[in-house]
Amino acid sequence: MEILELKGISKKFDRLEVLKNVSFSVEENEIFFILGPSGCGKTTLLRIITGFTPPDSGKVMLSGRDITNIPPANRNIGMVFQNYALWPHLSVWKNVSYGLEVKKFPQEIIRKKTEKVLEITKLTPFKGQFPSKLSGGQQQRVALARAIIMEPNLLLLDEPLSNLDARLREEMRSEISRIQRETKITMLYVTHDQKEAMAMGTRIAVMNEGKLIQIGTPVQIYSEPADKFTASFLGDINILKAEIRSINGKYIEAITTEGPLYLTKKPGYERGQKVEIGFRPENVFYGQEINIITGRVTQIEYQGGIVKLTVTTEKGNRFQLRIFSGDFKNINQKGKISFSVSPDDFIIFT
Ligand SMILES: Nc1ncnc2c1ncn2[C@@H]1O[C@H](COP(=O)(O)OP(=O)(O)OP(=O)(O)O)[C@@H](O)[C@H]1O
Ligand SMILES: [Mg+2]
Repeated sequence: MEILELKGISKKFDRLEVLKNVSFSVEENEIFFILGPSGCGKTTLLRIITGFTPPDSGKVMLSGRDITNIPPANRNIGMVFQNYALWPHLSVWKNVSYGLEVKKFPQEIIRKKTEKVLEITKLTPFKGQFPSKLSGGQQQRVALARAIIMEPNLLLLDEPLSNLDARLREEMRSEISRIQRETKITMLYVTHDQKEAMAMGTRIAVMNEGKLIQIGTPVQIYSEPADKFTASFLGDINILKAEIRSINGKYIEAITTEGPLYLTKKPGYERGQKVEIGFRPENVFYGQEINIITGRVTQIEYQGGIVKLTVTTEKGNRFQLRIFSGDFKNINQKGKISFSVSPDDFIIFT
């Protein structure tokens, strides 16, 4: 079932178009990501969903009800901010139970719910502490606990991990996923970190310059990106200019500066069409008989489990390859190297 549906949301600040006709819906029990670079309109979109910013046009539907003109306090939407916004003068317990106190729940219910939420967020040992005595990850968990205790229909998270260091960020990713599974609260999660979105998301909506570019599962978005922006935002990609010379039953034959390359046939292309074709650095094979590209290894970046190679061809194209360190031993590191790309692994951009 759909929890949230946005229908054609647009917003301008003065003359700046910050959101352009954004529509999508979030299903029950999802961790749905909005992924996009800084300034693309993510926070503005969340503020429209919470009701703090009115849209210029479009509708916000929550569980089938039009809430576009409903005040924020009556929407039952929770929010976790980037900077946590905890009360510094209140203990963890008081921070977490605050929302229920304001809503004048009976004391016995407040006690039970607070205990349960502290347990889910693993904060029970810190219930008497003040926020300034907590680590970043613990503070982040207080912010989460404070939001989920209200049992919102929908929980919005705005770059909730951006203040944490890399290791803690990874730890908190799986914590938030676990908390989602245990509470079954639908989450709409905003980030510019593609790794976070791919690791945690049931689906991802990619945004750029106020527009929604593509919605899909992490695998779909990574392997079939809708455009070059999405392809390179999600990871490294090698891109070559190409012209389609022929299309037969199985392949599209594309002429490039590296000679003809064969791509698995897809509908919507025609002979003579100029396109760009791309492949991911990890999608390369050795000892194949099709789509062979030859060059010299001009740079080696050892990263532990994997090695990043730069291969420069005679035509001057530079390709990034990523291989397992175990396979690296079999490669002639100074001399020529030939690799190939499977026809299935090419992405075509128009
Ligand atoms: N109240 C406002 N008045 C005028 N311009 C605004 C206002 N709020 C946001 N903007 C502008 O709207 C654009 C989108 O801002 P927004 O905060 O939604 O981006 P974002 O995607 O959340 O970026 P970040 O990843 O950096 O948080 C920016 O150019 C910003 O300067
Ligand atoms: Mg923002």
